[in-house]
Amino acid sequence: MRTHYCGDLNASHDGEEVVLCGWAHRRRDHGGVIFIDLRDRQGLVQVVFDPDRAEVFQRAEQVRSEYVLEIRGRVRPRPEGTLNPDLPTGAIEILGLDLEILNASETPPIQLDSHTADASEEIRLRYRYLDLRRPEMQARLRTRSQVTQTMRRFLDAQGFLDVETPILTKSTPEGARDYLVPSRTHPGEFFALPQSPQLFKQLLMMSGMDRYYQIARCFRDEDLRADRQPEFTQLDIEVSFMSEDALMGLMEEMIRGLFQEVSGVELPNPFPRLSYAESMRRFGSDRPDLRVALELIDVADLMDEVDFKVFSGPARDPEGRVVALRLPKGGELTRKEIDGYTQFVGIYGAKGLAYIKVNEWAAKGREGLQSPILKFLPDSAVQGIMERTAAEDGDLIFFGADKARVVNESIGALRVKLGQDLKLMEAGWRPLWVVDFPMFEHDANANRWVALHHPFTAPKEAQLDTLEQDPGACLSRAYDMVLNGTEIGGGSIRIHREAVQRRVFKLLNITDEQAEDRFGFLLKALKFGCPPHGGIAFGLDRLVMLMTGATSIRDVMAFPKTQTAACLLTDAPSAVDDNQLKELALRIRPRA
Ligand code: AMO
Ligand code: AMP
Repeated sequence: MRTHYCGDLNASHDGEEVVLCGWAHRRRDHGGVIFIDLRDRQGLVQVVFDPDRAEVFQRAEQVRSEYVLEIRGRVRPRPEGTLNPDLPTGAIEILGLDLEILNASETPPIQLDSHTADASEEIRLRYRYLDLRRPEMQARLRTRSQVTQTMRRFLDAQGFLDVETPILTKSTPEGARDYLVPSRTHPGEFFALPQSPQLFKQLLMMSGMDRYYQIARCFRDEDLRADRQPEFTQLDIEVSFMSEDALMGLMEEMIRGLFQEVSGVELPNPFPRLSYAESMRRFGSDRPDLRVALELIDVADLMDEVDFKVFSGPARDPEGRVVALRLPKGGELTRKEIDGYTQFVGIYGAKGLAYIKVNEWAAKGREGLQSPILKFLPDSAVQGIMERTAAEDGDLIFFGADKARVVNESIGALRVKLGQDLKLMEAGWRPLWVVDFPMFEHDANANRWVALHHPFTAPKEAQLDTLEQDPGACLSRAYDMVLNGTEIGGGSIRIHREAVQRRVFKLLNITDEQAEDRFGFLLKALKFGCPPHGGIAFGLDRLVMLMTGATSIRDVMAFPKTQTAACLLTDAPSAVDDNQLKELALRIRPRA
């Protein structure tokens, strides 16, 4: 129907007759002249209707917001003084020659003629088709499409095959709850929706495909956050006969190319690497935001003799940790602000947030410090803290003391929060790899080992013989790609020998019977010539969120779910009728 997109028109089209289709973004009546801003995917253009074309003018008068229009008109320069430099089409306008109203619209519940979303997220999700008309949302989905196309081009050129894997499948252990689908033909039995294509992509390596990729939907029934959805998309990758270094190099190349092509940004080459242990020690996190220069500094050895149980307890506890966090110029923080941060670390289970204000250390020593805990600290501890943190007058030093997990989570989060609040965040992009993850993590509640990545991740070759002796010390061949504090991808070299896989299952308390029942097909396949292989999966939604500057992955998904995993647009999930249940041999128990 159209000859051009509205947003593509400019001075070079001067004098041309064009046909445009789109939505009435805004209509203004100006002293006998009607202006309609017509909007389509590419942007806005101003159309002017003069009263001398009476019939067309009358129709233009009927136009309201979001009416769908087809307009024929002539491109002309805007009169002197009415140019709009903010609009790409701002040098021209269209003289309306004909107008057809293709469809009317009720008054939209979302105001579309403002750049920012002024509607609540609930309204935005309920009327998603309107929300998606906003230029900001259009731009995000366009970037997302560019990202996937760029990835596909790269992987295709590298000889990767795009292979689809089943959605109706068997439960795989990525650590979240499964979404289950009852089977009609096997009453009482269930499919699980895949948490990832993990086992199928390994089977594809055993099938000789050598290089696989898929833009794959994954389903995980877990607690939702800004960067977690129950249904999300991975760029899923697996290769055979490739070392982790080569694979990581290839993946870096892809991400570097992606940022260059889509955002015009040069990422470092190579990406820096941090071991898991170092990352936890310096940043309290395995996905450190390197844009913030603040670091955790261990001071347990200075605190084990102090007369303050809050500090000496964790200092003596092998599972405890005591750290200092120096905030340059933090002396300017008010009491109220410090109380706010104390509350903030409380979210992560911290029982308090001790601090020392460094007023005049250089001139007055101990007397120049101000702190609720100073009275508990002997001179040697104070001296040690000041030396180790290299604190200067005007600084503030925070302290965290608790089980290592609590300290890492709370002070790790505080570090990023301070970075945001106090504008200590370096601009730009700080990618890195985190490597040398532990194979296992001890679950104290259940008193058993759990896989830190997943049970198919290979241990380091050198530790193969001693796996059972000290599982906690065993490192894996896993790697995560982290960007600005978000884990955008994770993967590993896999176990390709059946005997090793059985040993790892055993360590994870998976009995032979359970292993047979859940992963029998994998164990059998490992017996028929499985090549060494490994892979990675990128969280596509998270990557696009970062690249578009969105703050939630919901803003880069066309039809996301709410925090309670519901779709407000379609009202899913919803009840089904009794016949459907009967066919599935299911009965709903009334809520207690
Ligand atoms: P993993 O579980 O680390 O690995 O997932 C890979 C990446 O997927 C993203 N991600 C999510 N994004 C949005 N919502 C979620 N609920 C969600 N969960 C994960 C993250 C993460 O880095 N099969 C393995 C990969 C492999 O070993 O090759 C896997 O799924 O960005
Ligand atoms: P209290 O003696 O409980 O008033 O604590 C003295 C100071 O230590 C206060 O500033 C508390 O915020 C802080 N504090 C208490 N528990 C901890 C903890 N686990 N880690 C760090 N600081 C703490």
